[in-house]
Amino acid sequence: MTRKLTVADYMTMAPFSIGLDQPLRAAEQRMREYGIRHMPVLEGGVLFGVLTARDIATVQAIDANLDELTVEEAMTPEPYTVSASTPLSRVARAMAEHKYGCAVVMERERVKGILTTTDALRALSEVLEDRGAAYESMPPSQARAVILAEHVHVRALLDRAEAAAKSVLAQRGVELPAVHSLRDAARHLITALTAHFELENRVLVPVLSEVPGFGALRAERLLREHEEQTRQVRTISDALRDREASPVALAERVDGLVAALREDMRIEEATLLDANLLRDDGILEDCATG
Ligand SMILES: [Fe+2]
Ligand SMILES: [Fe+2]
Repeated sequence: MTRKLTVADYMTMAPFSIGLDQPLRAAEQRMREYGIRHMPVLEGGVLFGVLTARDIATVQAIDANLDELTVEEAMTPEPYTVSASTPLSRVARAMAEHKYGCAVVMERERVKGILTTTDALRALSEVLEDRGAAYESMPPSQARAVILAEHVHVRALLDRAEAAAKSVLAQRGVELPAVHSLRDAARHLITALTAHFELENRVLVPVLSEVPGFGALRAERLLREHEEQTRQVRTISDALRDREASPVALAERVDGLVAALREDMRIEEATLLDANLLRDDGILEDCATG
């Protein structure tokens, strides 16, 4: 991608707004009618806050009467504001870090638009699709480099999960901080592994299929292995969801998965990711065995 994406590319222009002294009932009706979840709150054209569907839900949860309260009493004051030319990456990072549901886009002290998390997700999906298209046309050497770089990242998470599992196993008693860090490390590992299998299916499988000789067979085998590994990873997610499950059993499962994946990555690097197999010139020096 050559041009940097900015807020202007994804914001909603001229959003519906509401007055500071309006009854909350009117705000709730407007949001429902237009299917929106965020409204800038204005008084004399000046921005005073943002009212969200969640603010209204919070008020409703305590059985307050929406007719008796004003927008000002439920809104979030001092909303996060940006200009239309702010890079989208910077705004998305701030929204994620501070858990902002939206950014109000300002121009010369006036509201110009709004960017919500839904807009940010739309941007993310388009960027990921672009990246997917780039992967499809990736030369073998580049695909190899991408997967090897990913392996470095996955190995760091395997190390962390293994250390957390071993610490729980060493205790043989429930010490909550150790269990929390095991659960946390396991969750990160699951997310990374799921993404890793998907990445290899998208990037490595197509280039392997093109390798003369056993390439297609190996690609097919890799897909099957990933299905099996996904099943193993799922047993860990199930154990994480089961609050009754013993931490020792979870630690044993994580420890087993870590060992299996380390070995799998070692074999993958020695065979499928061999530089002589994934060559851009298409000339095969097929020395891979696995
Ligand atoms: Fe793999
Ligand atoms: Fe891998």
